[in-house]
Formats: sequence, structure tokens, C-alpha cells
Amino acid sequence: MAVINRIAEYFDEMKTWRQHIHANPELSLDCEETAAFVVARLREFGVSEIHEGIAQSGVVAIIEGRGAAGPTIGLRADMDALPLQEKTGLDYASKIDGKMHACGHDGHTTMLLGAAKYLAETRNFSGRVALIFQPAEETVGGARIMCEAGVIERFNISHIYAMHNMPGIPVGEFHTCAGPIMAAADEFEIQIQGKGGHAASPHKCVDPIVVAVQMAQSIQTIVARNVDPADQMVLSITQIHGGTAGNIIPDTAMLAGTVRSFSKEVQALVIGRLEKLVAQTAEAFGATATLNYSYGYPATVNSARETEFAVKTAKHIAGEARVMDDLTPVTGAEDFSFFLEKCPGAYVALGNGDSAYLHHPEFNFNDEISPVGASYFAKLVESAQPI
Ligand code: NI
Repeated sequence: MAVINRIAEYFDEMKTWRQHIHANPELSLDCEETAAFVVARLREFGVSEIHEGIAQSGVVAIIEGRGAAGPTIGLRADMDALPLQEKTGLDYASKIDGKMHACGHDGHTTMLLGAAKYLAETRNFSGRVALIFQPAEETVGGARIMCEAGVIERFNISHIYAMHNMPGIPVGEFHTCAGPIMAAADEFEIQIQGKGGHAASPHKCVDPIVVAVQMAQSIQTIVARNVDPADQMVLSITQIHGGTAGNIIPDTAMLAGTVRSFSKEVQALVIGRLEKLVAQTAEAFGATATLNYSYGYPATVNSARETEFAVKTAKHIAGEARVMDDLTPVTGAEDFSFFLEKCPGAYVALGNGDSAYLHHPEFNFNDEISPVGASYFAKLVESAQPI
């Protein structure tokens, strides 16, 4: 692996940062202490500007290159942890009950700090780099809030990059793909209003249970019969509630589920079909129903040119054989998608090796990959904006 030599020298220091962040996890928008730690490091490195308090605890740092004025490249890391009880038994395990860095955002923050240290020291690039440390990737979409605060426009970011560690991919390998790489994750809830009564006299009732079962069946045909087989998507009914006793037909029933899609067209098709099936199935049985559809994170869509550039840069760091550009899109979601809706860029997966999976109480970010990720970030800047 050809990590940048200077960054390889930061290995022990990066490990210390990562394990400190790991031991002190924070949730959602409340990443104040993590942000303070990040800001303290950035001040030590002597970055050009530090902007705090964006999306509550988000931080944007600017480093000016020593070349000519030019564009601003954006690099992003997430800082938040998960509400989970850690079971790794590590000596630097979470000090806080019920909170844990089980998605490796401690490592993402560390890799961006490593790149910041190197870039502030060497400044071997033209234009500027904007380092974005965001909270709340796991919850309310810190990226969305930073976008709404105008981060892209305010710092004039012209292209943007991020990465996520990935268990199951060999240590230090990069996997990505052009186009959609992660899904849009939406949720829906359906309330069915029937007419309850004695279960011995169903003819005097409108049974919402029967309607719910029919609806759940017909909704599954959206995937099977309406969506182009070439398009990937998931529709799962994950809840069905109704009734209280064996001899009562209830008044109401409820269904809920999730929709994962990779394009706005498929998403719109699914919503259109859901609306029809919900209204007309209810009507057919003499019931009424309301559909409540909530949009989650949009699909994460890598732009073609920036993905090609990211792949080229990753090959420079990891070697030709350790970079794959044909990753099968993942049905999980990621709020980096909000940045990619505003600005071209690329999201890549960096192999975390044979660890427990993300969001598992035994997961741990692999410190070995910190210099690889930091080198990738730094090389993106030096290659995109050479002196
Ligand atoms: Ni994550």
C-alpha cells in the first residue's frame, strides 16, 4: 500500500485520537465534545479558518493551498455514535452507558483529521479545501441541516468526497460505483378505519383486519409487478397492528413499512401505486384509509466524473488490484446524499476487514486503515487541485 509516508508517521497519533473519540461517544446533533476535540486538533495543525456551530455541533475548517487561488474541494466526515451498549471489552470501550461508536464514525473523523494535519503542514495544492465534520448522520440528517445552512454555497465547494469503513471488505480495499451507491430510505404508515363490532356478526361490521391483510398483499405487487426488474428496490411491510380480543372486530388497523429506492422515478412510481392501492383497497371493502409517507435520506448518487477521479486516486493509494469500481448498490442509506444533491462528488467504501458488522455491539473501527483513508483524502486534494 502506498500511503503517503508523512501520514504513515501519524499512525500512533491517529490511533490515540480515534480511541479517545471511541471512548467518548455522542449522539445525533449533540456532538459538542467531539467537535471541541476536533477543533482543538485543527488549531494545533494551524488550519486557515475554523467555523463552528453549523448544524449545532458541526465544524467546517478551511485550509488554503500555497498554489494559486482556485476551486474549493470538500471532504466530509461524520462524528456521531449510536444508542447501543458496547460489548467489545476493549480497554478504550465507551465510557458512556448505552452509547457506542458502532458505525466507525470515530474512524471517519480521525481519517479527516489525519488529512487535515498533513494538508495544513504541506499545503501542496492550489485553491482551498473545506473539511466538513458533521453530526447526526444516524438520526436527523446533519448533512441536510448543514446544506440548509448553505455550507456548499458559503464555502463555494465545487466537488465533495466522503468514505465509510466497510466490514467484510478486505482491509484497505476501496469499493465504489458511479451512479446510485446507497438507497433512499423512506417510511410509510397506513391507518385503516373500519367499523368494529361483535366478531360473531361480521356482516354488521367493516373488518379493518381483512382490509389490512389485503392491502399488505397488494402492496407487495408494486415491487413484483410495477417496478422495472432492472431497477433495484425494497418495499417491506414491517408492522401490522389491530384488535384487542378474540371476539371483537376492531374499528381500526394499522400498517407500516419502509421503501428503499435508488432513483426519484422509482420512488415516485412507488408512492403513486401506494396511494392508489391504499385508497381503492379500502374503498372496495367499505373502509377508509390514510397513507402517511415520510421521506428519509435521498439516494446517494455518485457523479460519473468525480467517481472516476476517486477511483484513480484510490488506486494511487491502495494499488490497482485493491480498488473496485463495480460495487453493487447498498439498500442502506447515508445522509452524504444531501451534499451530493447540491454538488458533484463521490462516496466510497473502505475495507475494515473481518470485523463485526456496522451497528453491532462488537463492531470496532480498524485503526490500520486510518492512514489509508487519510492518504486518500489528502491525495484527492493534491490531485484535483495541483500547484
Ligand atoms: Ni455510518
